[in-house]
Amino acid sequence: MNREDFPMINSHYIYLDNGATTWKPKYVIDKINDYYTKFTANAHRGDYDISLKVDNEYESSRDTIKEFINAKTRQEIIFTSGTTDSINIIADGFFKQNLEPGDEVIITESEHASNVLPWFRLAKTNGIVIKFCPLDDNHYVTLNNLKKVISSKTKVISLAMITNVIGDLRPIKEICEYAHQNNIFVVVDGAQSVPHIKTDVQDLDCDFLAFSGHKMCGPTGIGVLYGKYELLDAIEPKNLGGGMNESFDTVDDVYLKPLPTRLEAGTPNIEGAIGLGAAVEYLNKIGMEKITAHEQELRKILINKLKNISHINIVNEESDSGVIAFNVDGIFAQDVAVYLNKYNICVRAGNHCAKILKNEVGVKNTVRVSIYLYNTLEEINKLADLLKDKNKILNEML
Ligand code: ALA
Repeated sequence: MNREDFPMINSHYIYLDNGATTWKPKYVIDKINDYYTKFTANAHRGDYDISLKVDNEYESSRDTIKEFINAKTRQEIIFTSGTTDSINIIADGFFKQNLEPGDEVIITESEHASNVLPWFRLAKTNGIVIKFCPLDDNHYVTLNNLKKVISSKTKVISLAMITNVIGDLRPIKEICEYAHQNNIFVVVDGAQSVPHIKTDVQDLDCDFLAFSGHKMCGPTGIGVLYGKYELLDAIEPKNLGGGMNESFDTVDDVYLKPLPTRLEAGTPNIEGAIGLGAAVEYLNKIGMEKITAHEQELRKILINKLKNISHINIVNEESDSGVIAFNVDGIFAQDVAVYLNKYNICVRAGNHCAKILKNEVGVKNTVRVSIYLYNTLEEINKLADLLKDKNKILNEML
């Protein structure tokens, strides 16, 4: 699907590490290049043509992203450096002020570090209590299991919509409905979902959503914090500085600008925001439904092939996305990745920053394949063929 749009295709790598980051289409690269070669200027500060052009490009990226996730207003889209930054802003800028000792935050053992450590810090600084929702036999979250850990003290449920190792799609809409009936906020880590499935924040009714540009054909160092307007408006800005203040004359006499600017202090990541807007335009042109269907088709084929190889143990045979985690019997995951690298196949091996998932699945490290729109059946076949012969792996892995 649209492989020729990606200059990295000429590198002849088989890139199956899209959960870590994705390749960029020429359309996105050209947009960034245009900013540096045709209209370099700062944003929101100049009264000359190229600066106004920057304002226009930067803000129209915000509009494109607003439409992409169906936010109610453009003020609900804040540019950050990525998912990690967004969740840290949510935890430190909103919940630090709004949670009391003993209040409970529910996460799971399959969350990525970015959706664990900011809450651990709040446990230390604010005395909040972290609870883990038990997962079912497939390592899925169910509303019933969540209900088992929700108490009158529960104030936040913070979950990835799709996890980065198990690749399960959580029932976020159902969870939001139940949570809101019980005055619980829902934070969604969309790092592995927004690039792969259609996202509608109004339909989900989540309170916050975090995602990253580089996992969806955009540049690194840019991401989005979405929040319902009144919640974002209550966030204590992490950074104070230029661009976000209306005026100040004495230390105590500072007036901040309204959203979204009040949460974007300093010169923003202009190339990042413009590049992310272009990436969203690119994905829209293909269509998110088509991307999801393509990934699921390849996933199904790969799972069927791997299931027939007796020395392969798949960790997430049943899951819903293009993420497949497995191990080769008796061979360290990283050695498998090194072996595949000899054939120019890029996969990730290790714990994938989901360091407490081992409690749940019983293995610390896995080989992870993560599929995206430009992967092909031939690539999947080649990967499966190379894994068929365990002796070949053992002979060639070092
Ligand atoms: N969170 C990214 C991954 O899963 C880096 O690989």
